[in-house]
Amino acid sequence: MIEKINLPKGLRHIAIIMDGNGRWAKQRSKNRIFGHRHGSKAVRAVAEACSQMGLEVLTLFAFSTENWARPKKEVDTLMKLFKEFLKKESKTILKNNMRFRITGQMHRLPNDVQKFAKELIDESNSNTGMILNLAVSYGGRLEITEAVKNICRQVIDGKISPDRVTEDTIGNNLWTSDLPNPDLLIRTSGEFRISNFMIWQIAYSEIYITEVLWPDFDKKELARALESFSKRKRRFGKVDE
Ligand code: FPP
Repeated sequence: MIEKINLPKGLRHIAIIMDGNGRWAKQRSKNRIFGHRHGSKAVRAVAEACSQMGLEVLTLFAFSTENWARPKKEVDTLMKLFKEFLKKESKTILKNNMRFRITGQMHRLPNDVQKFAKELIDESNSNTGMILNLAVSYGGRLEITEAVKNICRQVIDGKISPDRVTEDTIGNNLWTSDLPNPDLLIRTSGEFRISNFMIWQIAYSEIYITEVLWPDFDKKELARALESFSKRKRRFGKVDE
């Protein structure tokens, strides 16, 4: 049992693509919903471990814009799980001084999920610890498209000239404009895909892919990911000093 994990140098933001709930359930001859339920439990343990080690931001990819096309029963259950998570985990989130937020199309979520999410966002607003950022109804291309629309409006209003549009202009118009870019991107279940997740922000993230399925991802697996991160030499396209 790992008691304490130390935060590696240079690690401010971890982003996780939580994948493999369905396969985890299948291995146990259960339905996909069983897998999501257990996936939801893993969220709590990982968020608490990250917050306790002093991480600034943890982003969890919980539901993509493409996931709306899953069978209605699965979508409904996931929404129910989000609601249960918000209701049950709000105490843990507040106790750990975390700030909760959602990145994505909050307006597409069922009313009750929106209500619990907004309450927790407000209640945790003045906390000073880790930002727990849930990416829900999120798509990286959608986020960039929205940023481009915003910039076009600013150009039309004469607030900015097209020649003055820089990478920073785009970054500053993303939903995550106030967050540091992820230093470490973790994907569980061994898939080598980005799946439209934070495609702008992960340009220089270190990527860690594990075969472990999300419901089995725990503090020990997190420690492995951090160990791998701490051995990386991040050059950001430059050469070693
Ligand atoms: C991917 O597994 C997982 C999802 C699409 C949903 C993620 C949701 C959770 C981890 C549970 C609820 C989360 C919260 C925050 C309460 P998959 O279904 O694609 O698995 P598969 O690739 O094995 O089929």
